[in-house]
Amino acid sequence: MNTTPRAIGQPHPHESAQAQVAGSAHYIDDLPEVKGTLHAAPILSPVAHGRLNGVDCAAALAMPGVRAVVLARDIPGDPILAAFAHDEPIFAQDAVHYAGQVIGLVVAETALQARRAARAVQPDITPLPAILTIEQALAAQSRVLPPVTVRRGAPEAALASAPHRLQGTLEVGGQEHFYLEGQIAYALPLEQGQWHIHASTQHPGEVQHWVAHALGIARHAVRVECRRMGGGFGGKETQAGHLAVWAALAARQTGCPVKLRLDRDDDFVVTGKRHPFAYRWDVGFDDSGRILGLKLHMAANCGFSADLSGPVCDRAVFHADNAYYLENVVIESHRCRTNLQSHTAFRGFGGPQGVIAIETILGDIARALGRDALDVRLANLYGTTERNVTHYQMPVEDNILNDLLPKLEQSAQYRQRQEAVLAWNARNPVLKRGLALTPVKFGISFTATLFNQAGALVHVYTDGSVQVNHGGTEMGQGLHTKVAQIVADELGVPLAQVRMTASDTSKVPNASATAASSGTDLNGRAAQYAARNVRDNLASFVCGLDGCGAGAIRFEGGMVTSPKAVRRFEDVVAEAYTNRIQLWSDGFYRTPKIHYDKATLTGRPFYYFAYGAACTEVVLDQLTGENRVLAVDILHDVGHSINPAIDIGQIEGGFVQGMGWLTTEQLVWDDQGQLATHAPSTYKIPATGDVPAHFTVQLWPEANREDNVGGSKAVGEPPFMLAISVYEALRNAVAAARGGAIAAPVRLTAPATAENLLRALGTLE
Ligand code: MTE
Ligand code: MOS
Repeated sequence: MNTTPRAIGQPHPHESAQAQVAGSAHYIDDLPEVKGTLHAAPILSPVAHGRLNGVDCAAALAMPGVRAVVLARDIPGDPILAAFAHDEPIFAQDAVHYAGQVIGLVVAETALQARRAARAVQPDITPLPAILTIEQALAAQSRVLPPVTVRRGAPEAALASAPHRLQGTLEVGGQEHFYLEGQIAYALPLEQGQWHIHASTQHPGEVQHWVAHALGIARHAVRVECRRMGGGFGGKETQAGHLAVWAALAARQTGCPVKLRLDRDDDFVVTGKRHPFAYRWDVGFDDSGRILGLKLHMAANCGFSADLSGPVCDRAVFHADNAYYLENVVIESHRCRTNLQSHTAFRGFGGPQGVIAIETILGDIARALGRDALDVRLANLYGTTERNVTHYQMPVEDNILNDLLPKLEQSAQYRQRQEAVLAWNARNPVLKRGLALTPVKFGISFTATLFNQAGALVHVYTDGSVQVNHGGTEMGQGLHTKVAQIVADELGVPLAQVRMTASDTSKVPNASATAASSGTDLNGRAAQYAARNVRDNLASFVCGLDGCGAGAIRFEGGMVTSPKAVRRFEDVVAEAYTNRIQLWSDGFYRTPKIHYDKATLTGRPFYYFAYGAACTEVVLDQLTGENRVLAVDILHDVGHSINPAIDIGQIEGGFVQGMGWLTTEQLVWDDQGQLATHAPSTYKIPATGDVPAHFTVQLWPEANREDNVGGSKAVGEPPFMLAISVYEALRNAVAAARGGAIAAPVRLTAPATAENLLRALGTLE
């Protein structure tokens, strides 16, 4: 009777793809506005650091349409955000800590009136010296959190006795999230001190917490809802909370609903980005390029407050091995406080900043030895039975890279193309090509063990249609589609019978952020368990009718089959209802096996690893620094894919976003701490024309070795790091221009803009 194929494993389109393309899918700014809605705009600090003596609002208040100005003194609850570190004022109080910090809001009848008036507010500020760079912060010991050191073996002795040794430095820039839908919140005061907040957020539960804390009320009085985001990428993990708190404070003060939508320039200037990192390293290795000892000093520019910098920098430490066994290693991680935006989560959450360090070190080792970089990488890979414990004492039990890398080497014809590139470079004096194949191993789970829990609700209505709600959020990554597929299969109904609903703190409470790529792992399982409860109720009901054991009932293709009869799902549901059988349920999941000691950074922080590799070819014009990514071949591990169309989309999108981070997306702060790149005119994300002409993605065929929903693996972040192959290919092209194997590290500051490439080539000061 299996008429409908299982939904899992099929390339179903995204659940709202058609509505999004047609313009009928609602983002927060599309919601009908309640009568009397006002609009807010932020008053920004014009300087990077200073004493705030006062704020002159008279001119702004006299402007057309202006209803109110909201400042720190107007906050009824705690004037400090309920962020984990409790170190960030909601509005600047007596000091400003970065250019763009929000001092208060102007509330007016239209958004334009509010924005104009916000610019007429005169803050009285006495400027103070600002710390802007990692170098300055390290010298001044300016930090948001104490440094962390992880050590294994005897790195000093291993370095001293190693046959070869190299030292280098590296600087890697930050990255603006550039979600297409900017930050937005819409706060509606309800009866009896209650609130309804529409927020474009990856973490409705935290928005609820922060709003309640700022208003000085209990969380049960605040309901936060988000149907979808137009992209989050980590930028709406904490930062959506600021917008919601600001909008709610403005609404409280005026007694009216308030919408706050940042325009693009303000969004750039107000919100934090990916952390810029700076590194110093010292490595010892043998003739094969195998690392014997490593000292790595990493420093992150965290901006003015802690935000998520602690866990981001921890993840960088956890990923500084990438796929490689580091027997004798010491990693020092510094979390620098500067007078800049507070840098935050961004796809990979510090992982990319860890992985790029070891990948560049291996590239430099290969060039110094005159060996092929893939051979050096293979020589350093984790083993499967030995050399398989990470520097944080977690055994790598599921390593597939020893099979995956040779497979991609074959399918991408790496060796032949390396020969071809060599020949091509010998013939061409100006254009130089580079080829690189790099792996990724990315740990899946929140490193804070408590966040690895999720809840869901599955409602079956009496017509057999199904509604699902869970604690995760949809940001374009396809979470809702995958969860719908999982529920459809659990109940054995067609996918079209299952509808997903907005994330809502009044449905599933206390949900974690949708982050760490674990949305489907957590919420998919919770929803599966909820659906299983309903199915079990229906199965025992049918058993009662037919006098058989519950195990004998099958749910498939919209039919319910017992040894005695075949019934339509909706008929069983309708009959069960008349017999007072519960047709809805909750489900709860928590990730097994994980534990982690925050003080020593040791334990099993990750349930499993996701793996992949990319082989990338670039061409570089050494006269101008211009370059193109010519060809990319990816082999990536998503376990048994729940939805191959969505997974391949995530791999392609993640790769291209990573390519932007390492090539064109340059953030420039001037020497006063003003962000000079705050619009698409000055900040260049990859365009369709930058997508390589040859771009293939293959999925690794094996299931997750750990028991994870549908045998799948998380996919949202790991492919981002495959773009490091672009950067390594560019460094190979630079080396080719400088005459092939070279003893000293190729110093290429990321992003590899034309300017930075010319510097690496030595043709620009
Ligand atoms: N894909 C799209 N289209 N838009 C996004 O904002 N965010 C990424 C990734 N893929 C993002 C995306 C980030 S940072 C994470 S952590 C994951 O999606 C979160 O969703 P998941 O856990 O459901 O994969
Ligand atoms: Mo993703 S950076 O974990 O939101």
